[in-house]
Amino acid sequence: MNLRNANLESMALKWDGECLWVLDQTQLPDEEIWLDGSEPRTMAGLIHRLSVRGAPLIGVAAALSYAWALGSNAGDAALEADWRFLREARPTAVNLAWAMDRMKQVQEYRGREAARDEALAIFHEDVALCEAMSAHGLTLFDGSEAVLTHCNSGGLATVGVGTALGLIRRAWEAGKVSHVFVDETRPLLQGGRLTAWELGRLGIPHTLITDSMAAILMREGRIQRVLLGADRIAMNGDFANKVGTYGVAVQAHFHGVPFHTVAPWSTVDTHCPSGKDIPIEHRDAKEVRGFGSLRWAPVQSEAFNPSFDVTPVSLLTSIVLDRGVFTREQLEAGALQGCCVA
Ligand code: MRU
Repeated sequence: MNLRNANLESMALKWDGECLWVLDQTQLPDEEIWLDGSEPRTMAGLIHRLSVRGAPLIGVAAALSYAWALGSNAGDAALEADWRFLREARPTAVNLAWAMDRMKQVQEYRGREAARDEALAIFHEDVALCEAMSAHGLTLFDGSEAVLTHCNSGGLATVGVGTALGLIRRAWEAGKVSHVFVDETRPLLQGGRLTAWELGRLGIPHTLITDSMAAILMREGRIQRVLLGADRIAMNGDFANKVGTYGVAVQAHFHGVPFHTVAPWSTVDTHCPSGKDIPIEHRDAKEVRGFGSLRWAPVQSEAFNPSFDVTPVSLLTSIVLDRGVFTREQLEAGALQGCCVA
C-alpha cells in the first residue's frame, strides 16, 4: 500500500489520501473540531500550541505532514525548511526528532516516494507498538487494581490505544484494573481535559483529582499502581514526562506503590546518557497564571513553567517497553544499551 491510496484514522488524526486532519486537542473536552494540518508550517504551529500533542502522536503527525509536502511540487530548499520547522516544533519528546530523522534518511537514500510511504509505515508501527506495550504491561498486574495516571498517554497521544493509558485500557478490559485516578495535570490540564474525556468515552470508571491529592490516596491504600507515559528516556533509565511526574514518583516511593513508565522504543534516546542531558521545554508563564481567557493570578506575577520534569531511574519500579518490561535493577545494569538499537 502507498500513502496516496491509504486511508488512516485514529482518535486524533486522519489521512484521506490527500489531506491530513487533526483533532484540535485545545478544544477538548467540549468541542471536537478537526483542522487541516497537511501543510508543514501549519502542522508545526499546531504541534507547538498543543493542538496536536503527546510524544508518539507528534512524531507520526509531523512525518505525515512532511510526506504531504514531499508529494507536492516543493523544491529541495523549501522541503528542507519544512523539515526543520517540523523537527524543531517542540524540544523534549524525542519521538518528533526520531520520526523526522527517519523520514530524512529514507528520502536521501531511497527518494521522495519511498519517504512518503515511510510515514505510512511509521503510522502502522505506532499502532502495533501500543499493543505490544500493553501485552507486556499486562503481566504486571496482581488481581484487579486501582491505578493512578498523569497527563494523557492514550489514543489522543498516539495513533493506537496509547502507551500508559493504552495499557490501562487493555488491563481494564481484562479485568485487571478496576478504577483509574486521573491527575488533572497542571498547568494545561491534559489529565482533566483529555484523559477524563478518553476514559469517559471508553466507559472506564475514573475519578479526577488535582495534582496535590495523590499522596492522600496512596496513604489510604487506594492506589495500587502508578502508570504514566514518557517523552524521552535516557540510556540509564532516567526519563522526562509531563511536569508533576517526578513528584508522583517521590510520593509512590515513600508509600511503596509500584511506579512504571510505559513507552515505545522510539522514546528511548540512544544519544542521551542520563536525565541531565534531556532538554526541557519551558512554556509561557501565562499558562500558570490562568487558562484560556480566565486568569486567577496577578498579571505581573512571575511564574515558573517547565513543561516536563525528569524522574531518576532510582524511583522507578520498571519501564514497560514494546520490547519487554525492564526493572530498575536491569536498567541500572545497562539493559537499555542492548535493546534499543533500531
Ligand atoms: O505536553 P504534552 O501534552 O505533549 O505532554 C504529553 C505527556 O507528557 C504525555 O504523558 C507523554 O507524551 C507521554 S505519551 C504518550
